[in-house]
Amino acid sequence: MKQKPGWVLPNLKEAQKRTKEETPRIDTYIIPENARSMGIGHTYFISTYGCQANERDSETLAGIMDTLGFEKVEDVEQADVILINTCAIRENAMEKVLGEIGNFKRLYRANPDLVIGVCGCMAQEEGFVERLLEKYPQVRLLFGTHNIQDLPSMLYSVMYEKQRVVRIYSREGEVYENLPVHRFGKHKAWVNIMYGCDKFCTYCIVPYTRGKQRSRYMDEILNEVKELKEQGYKEITLLGQNVNAYGKDIDDSYDFATLLEEVAKIGIPRIRFTTSHPWDFSDEMLDVIGKYDNIMPFIHLPLQSGDSDILKLMGRRYSQEEYIALYNKIIERIPHVAVSTDIIVGFPNESDEQFQHTLDVVNYCRFDNAFTFIYSPRPGTPAAKMEDSIDMETKKKRLALLNKTWNEHALERNKAYVGRTVTVLVDGFSKKNDLVYSGYTETNKLVNFTGNNIKTGDFVQVYIDGAKTFSLDGHAIQE
Ligand code: 5AD
Ligand code: SF4
Repeated sequence: MKQKPGWVLPNLKEAQKRTKEETPRIDTYIIPENARSMGIGHTYFISTYGCQANERDSETLAGIMDTLGFEKVEDVEQADVILINTCAIRENAMEKVLGEIGNFKRLYRANPDLVIGVCGCMAQEEGFVERLLEKYPQVRLLFGTHNIQDLPSMLYSVMYEKQRVVRIYSREGEVYENLPVHRFGKHKAWVNIMYGCDKFCTYCIVPYTRGKQRSRYMDEILNEVKELKEQGYKEITLLGQNVNAYGKDIDDSYDFATLLEEVAKIGIPRIRFTTSHPWDFSDEMLDVIGKYDNIMPFIHLPLQSGDSDILKLMGRRYSQEEYIALYNKIIERIPHVAVSTDIIVGFPNESDEQFQHTLDVVNYCRFDNAFTFIYSPRPGTPAAKMEDSIDMETKKKRLALLNKTWNEHALERNKAYVGRTVTVLVDGFSKKNDLVYSGYTETNKLVNFTGNNIKTGDFVQVYIDGAKTFSLDGHAIQE
């Protein structure tokens, strides 16, 4: 890759390293003097792709931009700075981002001072950065997941020193506390409890793009949750690539069950968490979830494959039987729990029989929701080096059959709600119809319902009249 003085380019080999060194923790955030108030009179727009970790990172980007004096706009045409926070989990995410940057070319031509910055997981990928630097001169700023806190000085160099800045560290990473945050939700908030991932599932790019597992100290998390409660937030979601492993990188006195219990005691009305790896899902976690009414009875439990041999090749460290045993334990111990999952079809050389094993598990668990994907080789991961004898057409057919199967289960699960009254936390008007409100049940079911004078952030009792595959319909029970 072409190198220029001052640039730091990504290196996937470097990003893979894991040492025994303690995670550096940085508690104070200082903005360089020359960059302070540099944003006054300027606007910014953020476009976010991918998972909740990215959503939360965008809130930090927005928090920093606000601190610099920039004003957030919802219309990209009005923006002086555009930040694109990208996702690298599958190839189609990459194509979408390149399409979006291509569209911004027009804005750049009209306003050569426009700053287009690209960050997030894709910036950690060597191939993507190479392509971007060569073919997209309008991108003036490129920074990685470990460089967010440097935004003020990077932006200063771009805007006032007219430089093209590329700063992408490939390292294990640190934990930053007290970075500014501009929360996009008024009644629901994300709370990071850990960063990175050390699981190295063979298909997954995340351990490379987000560094090693680094848990936040419990006190820091609890203080953030207390603050959110004081600010009136109704729901928080604890975030980590694998929350069950929370604290294992600090010492043995830390674990997710303890954290969850301490968070529950603070008394925020709704607590969710994501994602749980079946591998280290403890009994203590189930006890805590069952004990506190404000921990929502909803578990996202990625299956990935229902075939034990494929699971081994994926590096998932559980078998079909172990997954089912855990599933059974969850539904026994948490009354009315809903379970969702992630599934990949078409892992290299997956046979019809192996795919059938995935369908078998799906038919057994009858998931409430599923996120299903065709395997996408990620450069630098072990699975990307595997030869694959399965053609794309077969993979697409499997995906369609899988979707048909889980959709039927989801509809069936939803029908069981008809005639019941559920508590819904209101998000606002329904996307399709502004006479209809929408929100989520405790079990994370989307509900569209009618009612009067209802506000976003209210808890409402809703009688369910009808069920669809992806949502429920109902009416509010009001005096
Ligand atoms: N190809 C397809 N799906 C993937 N996922 C992660 N990596 C890949 C990949 N290379 C899916 C997994 C994970 C979800 C977030 O994305 O199912 O749980
Ligand atoms: Fe990727 Fe596996 Fe880590 Fe999840 S647990 S982020 S699938 S490596």
